[in-house]
Amino acid sequence: MLFTDSEIIRSWHVNAAPWTKAIEREEIESRKLITNQAIINVILEEPPLELLDLGCGEGWLARELASKGINVFGIDAVPELIEKCKQRGDANFVVCTYENLSLLKLDKKFDSIVCNFSLIGKESSELAVHFSLNQLKANGRLIIQTLHPLIACGDLAYMDGWRPGSWSGFSEDFKEPAPWYFRTIEGWCRLFERSKFRLLSIYEPLHPRTQKPASIIFECVPEADL
Ligand SMILES: C[S@@+](CC[C@H](N)C(=O)[O-])C[C@H]1O[C@@H](n2cnc3c(N)ncnc32)[C@H](O)[C@@H]1O
Repeated sequence: MLFTDSEIIRSWHVNAAPWTKAIEREEIESRKLITNQAIINVILEEPPLELLDLGCGEGWLARELASKGINVFGIDAVPELIEKCKQRGDANFVVCTYENLSLLKLDKKFDSIVCNFSLIGKESSELAVHFSLNQLKANGRLIIQTLHPLIACGDLAYMDGWRPGSWSGFSEDFKEPAPWYFRTIEGWCRLFERSKFRLLSIYEPLHPRTQKPASIIFECVPEADL
C-alpha cells in the first residue's frame, strides 16, 4: 500500500474536534500519567526564553509553558486547532505545514524547539527537523517526544517504513486514521545526523504500572554548537 505525508494532514483536519475534546478531557492515559510531565521536565531542564512548538495541536503545551513565563510560538497545519490555541493562550500561533515552513518568514530564533508527538510522516518530519537547525539560537535545543520504537514496532519488522494508522483506544468520533512513518532508534539517529544535529540525550519515561517506556524523548543540539 502506498502511504503519503499528505494523508496525515488530511486526517488531522478531519479529527481536529475529537482531538481537542480528548485533550480537554484528558482521555489519553499515558499523557496524563507520564508523557505530558516528561516533556515539560526536559524543556525546563534549561528553561528557554523563546520556544517554538512545532505541530502544537490545540496548544496545551504552549499554554503550560507560557504560564511559566516562556515566550511560546506555535505552528500547526490545521486552522481549527490553531484557532483553539488563539482563543485560549497568550502565545503566538500560525497555520503552516512543515512542507511550507521554508516560506514562513520567521523574524526570530528560538532557545528550544519542541515537537511533541507531532513528527508523524516521512518527508514532512525530515523537513521539520531540517528547518529547526536554522531557527535555533546558538546552544539551542531540539526536543522531540515520540512513540518508543521498541514498543510501537509491535509484531512487524523493526525497520523504517510506512505503517497503516489506527485510532484504537480513542473515541468513536475519530475517523480516517492517518498512516505514520515508523523509525527505528537508528533511523531517528540517521535523520539527526543528516540534518546536522548531534544527539545529546535520550529519555525513556516509564509507565508506572507496566514499567515499559511510554515514549522516547530525543534532545539534540546543532553539530556546529559542539
Ligand atoms: C498527535 S498531535 C500532537 C499535538 C501537540 N503537539 C500535542 O502534544 O498535543 C500531532 C499534530 O501534528 C500536526 N502535524 C502533523 N503533520 C504536520 C505537518 N506536516 N505540518 C504541520 N503540522 C503537522 C497535526 O496537525 C497535529 O496537530
